[in-house]
Amino acid sequence: VLDAVTQAASKTIGEACVAWLLSEDGNQLIPESLYHPDQPVRDALREALAVQLAIRDGVTGQVVRTGKALFAPQPAQAQIEMLFGSGYQSPVHSTQVNSLMIVPLTVEGKTTGTLVLTRARPGHPYVEDDFKFFRSLADRAGIAIANVRLYQNLAKALQQEQTLRRQLIQAEKNLALNRMVASVAHEINNPIQTIVNCLYLLRTAVSTEGPDREALDMATSETRRIAGLVQQLRDLYRPGQDKSMCPLEVKEILKEVHKLLLTHLQQHQVAWEAQDIPAGLVFNGIPDHIKQVFLNICLNAVDAMDPDGGKISVKAALDAPSYQVGIAITDTGPGIPPEYLDRLFEPFFTTKTTGTGLGLAITFDIVQSHGGRITVENQPGGGATFTVWLPVL
Ligand SMILES: Nc1ncnc2c1ncn2[C@@H]1O[C@H](COP(=O)(O)OP(=O)(O)OP(=O)(O)O)[C@@H](O)[C@H]1O
Ligand SMILES: [Mg+2]
Repeated sequence: VLDAVTQAASKTIGEACVAWLLSEDGNQLIPESLYHPDQPVRDALREALAVQLAIRDGVTGQVVRTGKALFAPQPAQAQIEMLFGSGYQSPVHSTQVNSLMIVPLTVEGKTTGTLVLTRARPGHPYVEDDFKFFRSLADRAGIAIANVRLYQNLAKALQQEQTLRRQLIQAEKNLALNRMVASVAHEINNPIQTIVNCLYLLRTAVSTEGPDREALDMATSETRRIAGLVQQLRDLYRPGQDKSMCPLEVKEILKEVHKLLLTHLQQHQVAWEAQDIPAGLVFNGIPDHIKQVFLNICLNAVDAMDPDGGKISVKAALDAPSYQVGIAITDTGPGIPPEYLDRLFEPFFTTKTTGTGLGLAITFDIVQSHGGRITVENQPGGGATFTVWLPVL
């Protein structure tokens, strides 16, 4: 917007136009845009004006402080010397300013900067109409800037809304699937127990050696595996389960997770780095479930870095305004292909030949039932970060 404004002012009224914006603290002016029809002059000006101006004194600063525009068709020498204030050697040589106009830049009723227009050509002072036009240009620039800001805020709000909506949809989907998984697991459990018992009886009838026994052993161990999986599903998706919550400390939980993973990490040449985990961050949780969350994420990280190994970095920090602790787990693997980002938490989504695709779906549900949320992002240098947010006590 400002580039268009400085250019328009320079081309229609004449010569050098500079737009200054107030710094965050409101004490300095920073050159934001500049235009002069001659390229070499423009470059020289740009170099000369690579400064920050204090607004406390100086002619430009005064316009910003008071909000009153300055129309000086034939400025006094003192005005030119004090154009930028006492602290600055005016980079604009006095002969370069034979006529001067400065208007405040107001966005939504607040002065946020200023536009300065100068003419070097002697004998052609600015006239009243120039001043009027310049002021209306500044007014319109203020409105345009306000619109841009509005649009930016809107875009941000929209993005937040979309993230929230996506999480809600995911939670909805998972809830429906949970019910199905729970009932299927329940129905499968009984026949499996029967099969396990039958296999046990058969084993006593078959000789301890030979191919029959081998086949029977294999059937037994595979059935046990299924029984284990079904049991796990039943535990997690039992409706109305009443596993009691208790206060847990982030640092302690992460220590225990590390302990559980130690051998696995060594076997896969994965280093563990948990730096500066603040003590005293406490949240309410079901210990086994919470550990399962971090185990699932870490096991995936190890898988992702296979076979070369790598590093898992764990960080935790309190987000004071939201009373939430964020626990971030980053790996040095290849990261997650963007087209999969939306599907990771779906039950049975897996890219592994031996995966069930339940790890992250279960993780999502546990975090959700703890009043938290989980986010995932790829790191610019490769690797993925899973962040679990939980409300602190
Ligand atoms: N840290 C990671 N880096 C890259 N991809 C990942 C990472 N974590 C998860 N994924 C991807 O997400 C998919 C789903 O993970 P999830 O834990 O739900 O299932 P899984 O690991 O494939 O199977 P299971 O956990 O049941 O053994 C994985 O197959 C993998 O493609
Ligand atoms: Mg997994």
